[in-house]
Amino acid sequence: MISIQEALDKREGKVKLHGWVYRERKSKQIVFIVLRDSSNIVQCIVKKDIVSEAEWNIAEKILIESAVEIEGEIKEDSRAPTGFEVNVKKLNLISMAEPFPINKDQSTEFLADNRHLWLRSRKMTAIMKVRSTIFGAIHGFFRGKGFYEYQSPMFQSIQCEGGSTLFKLNYFGSEVFLAQTWQLYAEPAIFALEKIYTLAPSFRAEKSKTSRHLTEYWHAEMEVAWEGFLELQDYAEDLIKFVFKKVLEVNKEELKILERDVSKLEPVIKKPFVRMTYTEALDILKKKNKMDVKWGKDLRTVEEDELVKNYDVPLIVTCYPKEVKAFYMKENPDNPKTVLGFDLLAPEGYGEIIGASEREVDLEKLKSKLEAEGEDLENYGFYLDTRKYGSVQHAGFGMGVERLISWICGLDNIKDAIAFPRTPLRYKP
Ligand code: 4AD
Ligand code: MG
Repeated sequence: MISIQEALDKREGKVKLHGWVYRERKSKQIVFIVLRDSSNIVQCIVKKDIVSEAEWNIAEKILIESAVEIEGEIKEDSRAPTGFEVNVKKLNLISMAEPFPINKDQSTEFLADNRHLWLRSRKMTAIMKVRSTIFGAIHGFFRGKGFYEYQSPMFQSIQCEGGSTLFKLNYFGSEVFLAQTWQLYAEPAIFALEKIYTLAPSFRAEKSKTSRHLTEYWHAEMEVAWEGFLELQDYAEDLIKFVFKKVLEVNKEELKILERDVSKLEPVIKKPFVRMTYTEALDILKKKNKMDVKWGKDLRTVEEDELVKNYDVPLIVTCYPKEVKAFYMKENPDNPKTVLGFDLLAPEGYGEIIGASEREVDLEKLKSKLEAEGEDLENYGFYLDTRKYGSVQHAGFGMGVERLISWICGLDNIKDAIAFPRTPLRYKP
């Protein structure tokens, strides 16, 4: 048994394949079956005068998504969908499918309800392959740079990214939260491992329905001791370039199936990312995009989307006003109204891919910021301990993996970047 791709690469001669019926068309003497496996599709021709009567009876009744084994001769045929055709000598039915509920032109709701079946589509298959490359590349990047893979708990006792998006759970009578980020549990580990990363789910009770938010998403996070804000920007840029290179190497076919304009991805690899401060970003928004943002206000999605239109590479926007960013971001010594944090914004309107910062090491500043947010310092005892026993400069970021996948694949909605998306309205199947 070989894969369909191996058969296509072989170009001629005997092949033995198995897979699922992707399409079928029947006439009196001939049945056309487009066979699908994980590697590709190929057209197979079953002729009444070649196969046995029993085999012909199967072919005549075969339905889409039935599982079959096929033996035959492959040869070039420019009319066939992938340029080759298999003349079937033997047909073995593994299982006959019931009439498949998904056919052409179905609503996105219907496809979402039948997600478990829709995963078989060429589009979803292609996306899942790119996703697999991306996960592998993220591991490869960090391991190549000497990072340890480290895991934090999903049940957490304190918040990190704001109370409004916490999923609260009853934990044997106590209230706990699902992880929004690994961060507060990662910082304690840099004192042991120094350079760490993870790839894990994060949860956000994000009520807004947008094309960029999931309630459960995969989060690639890193934390590094002894290094600071500038190194952090380099890590972010290098990581994205590394992932893009891998996908362009491995997934040319998938990007073609997804009709992704690859010329839009190339500048990301070839050109340096554009780095600017928040204040410079406001200036550019005013001059180039005719948008007035008052200093001190966070950039809204509309403003980010306008800003990135000026570039074909990601933007690293640094030094946001303190008020709009999280409590743990280090105060900028050159301008204490701002923090040493950045957002990495993708071109083409794919939004914020990475949130990052050097961490505040000043214990008193951390405490007063937490208090100002109404937090009970007692709960944060374990976290504040990190600043008491050999505190060192450190920094880290989190990258939304589905956002990255959406961008690379050119998806309209983040929901297609994951097999079973979770949103406020969608938790089934
Ligand atoms: O900017 P965020 O909230 O940063 C953190 O969580 C930091 N604690 C990370 C760190 O420093 N270790 O989230 C990081 C990234 C965002 O830039 C975005 O790409 C993604 O996570 N993200 C989401 N992706 C999908 N759906 C959501 N609801 C998301 N919320 C954030
Ligand atoms: Mg953010």
